[in-house]
Amino acid sequence: MEKLLALEMVRVTEVAAIASARLMGRGDRHEADRYATEAMRKTMDEIEMAGTIVIGEGERDEAPMLYIGEEVGKASDDAPAVDIAVDPLEGTNLVATGSSNAITVLAASERGGLVHAPDTYLEKLCVGPTAAGHVDITKPPAENVHRIADALRRRPEDITVIILDRPRHEDLIAEVRSTGARIKLISDGDLSAAISCAVSGTGVHAVMGIGGAPEGVITAAALRCLGGEIQARFKYRNDEERARGARMGHGDESRIYRTEDLASGDNLVFAATGVTPGDLLEGVRFFGGGARTHSLVMAYQTKEVRFVDTVHMFDREKPPSVRL
Ligand code: FBP
Repeated sequence: MEKLLALEMVRVTEVAAIASARLMGRGDRHEADRYATEAMRKTMDEIEMAGTIVIGEGERDEAPMLYIGEEVGKASDDAPAVDIAVDPLEGTNLVATGSSNAITVLAASERGGLVHAPDTYLEKLCVGPTAAGHVDITKPPAENVHRIADALRRRPEDITVIILDRPRHEDLIAEVRSTGARIKLISDGDLSAAISCAVSGTGVHAVMGIGGAPEGVITAAALRCLGGEIQARFKYRNDEERARGARMGHGDESRIYRTEDLASGDNLVFAATGVTPGDLLEGVRFFGGGARTHSLVMAYQTKEVRFVDTVHMFDREKPPSVRL
């Protein structure tokens, strides 16, 4: 099931990427997100599955589609039951401003294989396979930089940490700087950053700091497929968020969630497609009569990581010539 589903799922992120890439640089993040969401929703319904959205665009009354609990897919009697976590457009601002690293992304698993997370913040520490097992989010960030450097047999100066550029990260940035490590401050998109740190050659070795909890669950699915690691704990800003988190079973803010806690499924599938050009994936490239997309699709059981380069022909009558 996983193998087939992976290939179906990458179509979903591809179609969403093409739709939202049309809005690149238009300054309208909500519209870019809407385009991606509508395209994702429509394409999901072409897949033979009894899908349920467990992480989506919000609660039923605040999101018109891909809301939590929504059923998707063309469910026949023997269609597999699948839980799906989506981020139709990760980095809405990045598309609105034509900046790099926006992706469309989703993770799927058998029922119960992805944590139901509230739309709050999560403190995250993400590393790739070589540093996995060597870090500890309860230790100071400087110590983790040294641990990552030791695991990678490098000096801290040769490590690059990605951190969201937010005032809340002032102390974290200062502490990481004190180790001599290089830092890449990003305006948005800690999910694609976290995937990058598990892929050699991207020049990224860790992601630290507080970002979206839904993104954290999808990150966990990707890192499980890649052998990386995420450690996380919920960070609520007020009592309302705390109560919402508690209702979903995440009341204990001291609890450390590990990769397998966030994405426990045995049949995990992950798919992402670049919208704007990025460290990991090319953006959507349009040409007369078609578009080209670049995606990452992975399945945990089958241990397959595919980079998929697809030419989409819009016009059957006048097909564009396909270039290498
Ligand atoms: P959107 O795709 O919803 O615009 O979110 C992007 C993002 O930068 C995530 O990658 C990150 O986890 C989160 O927002 C950070 O939230 P905030 O902007 O509130 O600091």
